[in-house]
Amino acid sequence: MTGLRQISVGILGTGSAVPDVVLTNKQLEDMVETSDEWITSRTGIKERRIAKEDEAASDFAYKAAVEALKSANLKPEDIDLILVATITPDMLFPSTACIVQDRLGASEAAAFDLSAGCSGFVYALEVGCQMVRGGYKHVLVIGADVLSKVTDYEDRSTCVLFGDGAGACVLGEVEEGFGILATNLGADGSGANVLCLEAGGSRMPASEETVRSKKHFITMIGNEVFKFAVRIMGQSTLEVLKRANINPEQIRWFIPHQANIRIIQAAAQRLGLDDESVYVNVDRYGNTSAASIPIALDELVKMGKVEHGDNLLTVGFGAGLTWGSAIIRWQEDVK
Ligand SMILES: CC(C)(COP(=O)(O)OP(=O)(O)OC[C@H]1O[C@@H](n2cnc3c(N)ncnc32)[C@H](O)[C@@H]1OP(=O)(O)O)[C@@H](O)C(=O)NCCC(=O)NCCS
Repeated sequence: MTGLRQISVGILGTGSAVPDVVLTNKQLEDMVETSDEWITSRTGIKERRIAKEDEAASDFAYKAAVEALKSANLKPEDIDLILVATITPDMLFPSTACIVQDRLGASEAAAFDLSAGCSGFVYALEVGCQMVRGGYKHVLVIGADVLSKVTDYEDRSTCVLFGDGAGACVLGEVEEGFGILATNLGADGSGANVLCLEAGGSRMPASEETVRSKKHFITMIGNEVFKFAVRIMGQSTLEVLKRANINPEQIRWFIPHQANIRIIQAAAQRLGLDDESVYVNVDRYGNTSAASIPIALDELVKMGKVEHGDNLLTVGFGAGLTWGSAIIRWQEDVK
């Protein structure tokens, strides 16, 4: 395929899936030295969903994808490409996207995973959008993570933060002036050590020693991530608003990555947005990484709160360090 078509690309349908099992702050009080009061006041999280032992990223990705296809009124064979943003794939290879492709029966689709931490969904949105411009008619973009599988439930500084789930959307052509109006992606690899999972790759393959020293779990310098997140969410959203030539007052819904209510509030304040236009579900799911933005979007859509012509502003940040923001003008009932 050569050349990019100058078409508008938007979201034709959404879906999401989370595990049934709920882990509350009260339950965490019995596992580590923490309190509901500490977790609530520092993060805004009250509970999160946790995958069962036999559940993996592709299980939630698949369920979210089925819903997204249904809401877009499309069949699996209509999908040309499946893109899964994840840092907790079922296995290192094959990709989780290939596992989802097989389960869906999306026989016409190419499939690959994308790794950009909690910014993964916004990265995948931009890649999917450009692939539609390149000639792929329908791209299924999924954010799926099960961070509980790589979290140390003896480490109170990380185990209270994360939860599991997946969100999905189908991208395709929409009317001119609608869809993804602008994006802003970025990375600063010098911050790799701030949030990482050291072992299990080619630098430090799994061994008895890596298991003993807990190197297969997330490590994080929390306050460094916090400072980075507050700074970058402000910067990236202001840049994407400029690119789309839109003022903050024209934003109907701000859908930020759900990591911490204090980070969300700081970003909303910087943009001058009132509480009523900020969507928050971190209290119910914690930080679900690449799944957090598409789960939030799907909830809003299912509640009927996104209307034709609404401008949505979304922004993510995470391991890498990475960040990404996008502005989407919603088109209802794309034919
Ligand atoms: C992790 C985070 C909630 C900590 O909040 P904070 O206000 O920065 O708190 P601090 O790191 O300063 O820690 C304060 C104290 O609380 C303690 N603490 C940490 N976790 C705790 C817990 N679950 N319960 C009780 N106390 C805890 C710390 O040990 C520290 O104690 P000390 O002062 O005796 O050393 C916050 O830094 C954060 O949200 N960072 C971003 C994390 C994130 O979003 N990661 C994913 C990015 S995609």
